[in-house]
Amino acid sequence: MLADKGNAMEIISQIIGGQHADILIRQKAGAPLELGELLVAEEGENKILLQVFDLVYGSQMQPEALEWASGLNLENVSSESFLDANLRNYVLAKIKAVAHIKNGVAKTAKSLPPFFSGLRRIQDADLAFLENPAKPLFGGHVRSGSRMLSKEVILDGAEVLPTHVLIAAGTGKGKSNLTYCMLYRLLDSDYAGILVLDPHNEYYGKLKSHPNAAHNLVAYSPNPDRGALTMAIHYESVKPWHFSGIVPFTDAQGDATWMYFKHFGNRWLYEIMAEKRGSKTQEWIDNRRLHEGTLAVLQRRLELALDKTIFKPEGGQNTVKDISDALDAGRKVVVDTSRLASNTELLIGSILAHEAFERSRRNPGRIKSIVIEEAPRVLREGESNVFSSIAREGRKFGVGLIAITQLASMIPREVLANMNTKIILGNEMSQEREALIGSAAQDLTDDSKAIAGLDKGEAIISSVYTKLAIPVQFPKFETMVAADQKISAAGASVAKRFA
Ligand SMILES: Nc1ncnc2c1ncn2[C@@H]1O[C@H](COP(=O)(O)OP(=O)(O)OP(=O)(O)O)[C@@H](O)[C@H]1O
Ligand SMILES: [Mg+2]
Repeated sequence: MLADKGNAMEIISQIIGGQHADILIRQKAGAPLELGELLVAEEGENKILLQVFDLVYGSQMQPEALEWASGLNLENVSSESFLDANLRNYVLAKIKAVAHIKNGVAKTAKSLPPFFSGLRRIQDADLAFLENPAKPLFGGHVRSGSRMLSKEVILDGAEVLPTHVLIAAGTGKGKSNLTYCMLYRLLDSDYAGILVLDPHNEYYGKLKSHPNAAHNLVAYSPNPDRGALTMAIHYESVKPWHFSGIVPFTDAQGDATWMYFKHFGNRWLYEIMAEKRGSKTQEWIDNRRLHEGTLAVLQRRLELALDKTIFKPEGGQNTVKDISDALDAGRKVVVDTSRLASNTELLIGSILAHEAFERSRRNPGRIKSIVIEEAPRVLREGESNVFSSIAREGRKFGVGLIAITQLASMIPREVLANMNTKIILGNEMSQEREALIGSAAQDLTDDSKAIAGLDKGEAIISSVYTKLAIPVQFPKFETMVAADQKISAAGASVAKRFA
């Protein structure tokens, strides 16, 4: 799949007409073009990068002559002399210019390549303009049609992470696989602290094979595997604001939590949850005219959200602090929430995100990002919580989201528009494609059909920080890890030889 067979510099098509965003080319026989394929028109130092977005048939023959020739063919009468297949009948492709490369720098393509220019397939060397930033974020391999090049796309994590990443696809198209790859590579360095809320317990098992896992990866679970820590959160770590936009309270219930917090401070939850109240508390309740019915319902709501396997009246005092310290130090923290109700998972996320965000607000340090699966659970119209606050103003403090979803259309438009980098995988639902295309950094209007047809791991990265929407292919996680380990083993043996 990696190597391009045949002569890579061979001219395989030629421009014969059209206009800037709709150039018509003729395909050379025996060199089939693919939708999404990247081609290069070269003129001295200038290269124009073009992409195929449609394929049509062309013929020199009149329709009647074609029908006649087809009849001869179907009825087994030789038609070779009529057809001279390759010259008279051919494939035309519609392509658009996606970038102009000069002296290794890519710019938006504003001019047309000369009429009749010959085009060749793209090669790794044409992509030297893709940068190698100091804070690398893996974005897959450049893809030309369905061909994966060996050239990797490395995004600038310092720009991309704090301004949010959206990973959107239909089910089973490779969202989780892509995220494993991205996080595995992030384990190489400690420039960013990453919190992963893992509702399917998928991530730790994958990431722990990384050579840096022992010091750069921390995992928490209510039923920890080897190497993971026990997830327990102490009552005193829970504050009334952690519930906003996460656990639905009525105004009266919300007010009651705040009144308790104001009066009892960090002990507020004990007081609400206490089965037997002290007489002083009862007197306080009576004085505040807190309705017994409200308190009873509030107690039940809290009991449901505060899953006993996680939330402890005793124990777990340091968990929130330890996780925040790890994020501040640029470690990756995976929290397994697989056996918990969605409310409980999101409450844990809210507590940890609040603390991480609050620390960065007070003292911006390392970049942080929070990976959240099924993101519309917290990024919804009319819902205001810590995740929507991060989406709106996290960038100022270096805190971002990596939001994963099948349903981007459920995320409010202004939040979608704020997510500066979108990794768009295959999606059969046109409504979803529209939401993504409508909020992308580049004009992807012509790419809707291509997005519908993307295979597992094939994606388009559209980012404010890239000159063009880059077609990419993410490798299967296991394949990437095997390749990385081979490279690092080779590197180690070279280092040994020169030591
Ligand atoms: N780039 C890829 N190359 C090969 N196989 C892949 C690739 N990406 C994903 N797969 C395979 O496809 C399947 C689904 O992938 P994955 O779980 O990542 O999809 P998903 O989008 O997260 O699905 P879901 O919507 O269920 O969360 C897995 O078996 C995975 O190994
Ligand atoms: Mg998944």
